Amino acid sequence: MKPNSLTQRPIGVFDSGVGGLTVVRALMERLPNENIVYFGDTARVPYGVKSRSTIETYTAQIVEFLMQHDVKALVIACNTIAAVAGAKVRQTAGGMPVLDVIAAGAQAALATSRNGRIGIIATSTTVNSNAYARAIHAQNPQARVPSQACPLLVPLVEEGWLEHEVTRLTVREYLKPLLAEDIDTLVLGCTHYPLLKPLLQSEAPHLALVDSALTTAEATAAALAEAGLLNPSQTPADYHFYVSDIPLRFQTIGERFLGRSLEQIEMMRLG
Ligand code: DGL
Repeated sequence: MKPNSLTQRPIGVFDSGVGGLTVVRALMERLPNENIVYFGDTARVPYGVKSRSTIETYTAQIVEFLMQHDVKALVIACNTIAAVAGAKVRQTAGGMPVLDVIAAGAQAALATSRNGRIGIIATSTTVNSNAYARAIHAQNPQARVPSQACPLLVPLVEEGWLEHEVTRLTVREYLKPLLAEDIDTLVLGCTHYPLLKPLLQSEAPHLALVDSALTTAEATAAALAEAGLLNPSQTPADYHFYVSDIPLRFQTIGERFLGRSLEQIEMMRLG
């Protein structure tokens, strides 16, 4: 086992904004002993419509900030960042474990699908990057991976319209081309979509939904165990949240994503 000081270091989790709190929530449940430091780039969200080079620049700043906090592992909670800057983050992190929602989601989708037809819903940048399809095809070249960009869903979730008729009709429209491809599994390829699980399941009850937040928490637990980095301490875990802006209704939205009260928030501008 590694010295306590190393195992007790926090896991660094980051996202373009508050959405990554769905991953933090899953981590808190799966790994209750682990300390977490979160960075959400709320001043520059959304990333899902931005170019690769802009996202790479922002991501490098976030990673540098988290490394200064002596993190023992990094979790890329944002699908868009994982899609276009995942490789760069791994380079910067050296040997440190780096987990991301796309690798974990692709793995879980392959284990779930029976007919090899896996639908992806995500932001425009994630879909254009083809990252999910690449990760799935690397393991099963025969798989069919129809993908649908759903740019309207992030604002609808942030508005809290999780069961609203407008959201239902929007979801129905986005799912049409995927259902036409006879998919049996749907990857929720964006931080915000786990909150839409009940609505998605009611629209397409036969689909198996892959929640990247849950699968990433599972992958993080496995990676920390393998590296001997699990925190054995029984003292209550410490959670620290940094955001680059505190927008209107931040608390309400954040607590919806986190599923509990959001404390220890600090503002930190990068770049
Ligand atoms: N966090 C982003 C993702 O998972 C969604 C929000 C954004 O566009 O920045 O793709």
